[in-house]
Amino acid sequence: MNEYSEMIEKALDEFLIKDNDVKGLVDSMEYSLMAGGKRIRPKLVLEFCKACGGNPENALSFACAIEMIHTYSLIHDDLPCMDNDDMRRGRPSNHRAFGEDTALLAGDALLTLAFETALSEKAVKATSAKAVADAGRILASFAGVSGMVGGQFIDLSIEGKKVEAETLEKMYGKKTGALLKASCVLGCIAAGADDEKLKAAEEFGGKIGLVFQIIDDVLDVVSTPEVLGKPILSDEENEKTTFMSIYGEEKCRQIAKKLTDDAVKALDIFGKDESAELRELAINLLNRNK
Ligand code: IPE
Ligand code: IPE
Ligand code: MG
Ligand code: MG
Ligand code: MG
Repeated sequence: MNEYSEMIEKALDEFLIKDNDVKGLVDSMEYSLMAGGKRIRPKLVLEFCKACGGNPENALSFACAIEMIHTYSLIHDDLPCMDNDDMRRGRPSNHRAFGEDTALLAGDALLTLAFETALSEKAVKATSAKAVADAGRILASFAGVSGMVGGQFIDLSIEGKKVEAETLEKMYGKKTGALLKASCVLGCIAAGADDEKLKAAEEFGGKIGLVFQIIDDVLDVVSTPEVLGKPILSDEENEKTTFMSIYGEEKCRQIAKKLTDDAVKALDIFGKDESAELRELAINLLNRNK
């Protein structure tokens, strides 16, 4: 996976429009976007593109677009009116460094920059006009009201309430699963893959999306701010029911393991060799410590 890290960092930096008229805004966007982060979503885009027989470089616009949307979601997620967290990616969260007003706008601007990037002339040249139109639609629908934003809304609306695991699972599928699904599908689209592969990629993304949030909930309790780069016990502070608060660590890990096994099965259609890195990625996400 690491072979793509440098490629992703370079492309993100190139796609960030450095408009000097609004330097304060650009600084704030850059502060969060270029602060590292695991880059799981763009890596998934590139790996799926490769697994479908495409050239990962051709998927870079889509990969950067999803990372921009993800970064915007983190900036807004940390705001005082949301999770009210002071640290992100190992540094003060965006609103702590730039103020709430600029943080809000940096999030808005990253969201729109994502579409500028995915729909760019460069993206059309690297893929096709049809692929770019499909990618735009996927990004919008998975990031929006029925996807990540909808999930964040449900997350906030159940704070302080006791909820069933089924409700949580549905919410996780949206707030976290949607962008991971989109990442997998975008990689296939960049490679011009058929519907069967798109469906399998979406299934894989949905399963690892749940795993991702379950492990996030576990780490919120058992890790440290130094390792995570963000505060711990944020969920308890915000009175959130999570998989961790319902099931405890051991059961969470069991559930996550079963979901990972199912996710790996969904990769069969891509072929054993072609999907080797994706299998490894799924297992790494299960065992991650940050
Ligand atoms: C954090 O995402 C938010 C969740 C969806 C749980 P990541 O854990 O991928 O955050 P970064 O990108 O590495 O900072
Ligand atoms: C956030 O879930 C998911 C997003 C859409 C940003 P969390 O609120 O648990 O993410 P962290 O723990 O702050 O990264
Ligand atoms: Mg949150
Ligand atoms: Mg949060
Ligand atoms: Mg969390």
